[in-house]
Amino acid sequence: MAYEIDEVLIPEEELKKRTEEIAQEISKDYKGKNPILIGILRGAFVFLSDLIRKMDIEVEIDFMAVSSYGNATHSSGVVRILKDLSENVRGRHLIIVEDIVDTGLTLNYLIRNLQAREPASIEVASLLLKEGCQKVPLKIKYLGFKIPDRFVVGFGLDCGQRWRYLPYIATVKKV
Ligand code: PRP
Repeated sequence: MAYEIDEVLIPEEELKKRTEEIAQEISKDYKGKNPILIGILRGAFVFLSDLIRKMDIEVEIDFMAVSSYGNATHSSGVVRILKDLSENVRGRHLIIVEDIVDTGLTLNYLIRNLQAREPASIEVASLLLKEGCQKVPLKIKYLGFKIPDRFVVGFGLDCGQRWRYLPYIATVKKV
């Protein structure tokens, strides 16, 4: 299947503005708490790097890489850890940083997995949320944008590994 960029859904300026707002919110909420921001590879790396550079508190970062056991179009909810955290998070304040929440099954797994490590708290920051697609109830404390159920790329998100580098969020179409 071949794809091409369709239209810009969220321009660069809007992403920048909303990312800065979230960075300020987190800075206010976590002052003196030295949270660990956990970026979920690969998609979240752009949002995470923009986010931390607009924060004015001390934070640490770590990464996890996960892969769904489902196929490309159907998430199964069973997740395999490809790369685990580098640090022990017991007693620490954690913020999971995602690029997009679709069914929510990945996030649901990650929260349960991290909870078992006895952190002080866990919250979620996600740049995007696909509206009406969640299969499990989730609380996303820091949300960038709700988007319609479209395939989107850019700002870290890909379609067959393409277009992660775009500075905006765009929809793709089949050609
Ligand atoms: C995306 C995203 C989430 C997950 C969300 O990752 O970063 O981790 O899918 O889907 P869900 O809510 O339906 O579980 P993806 O599998 O595309 O990997 P990538 O970030 O490496 O591109």
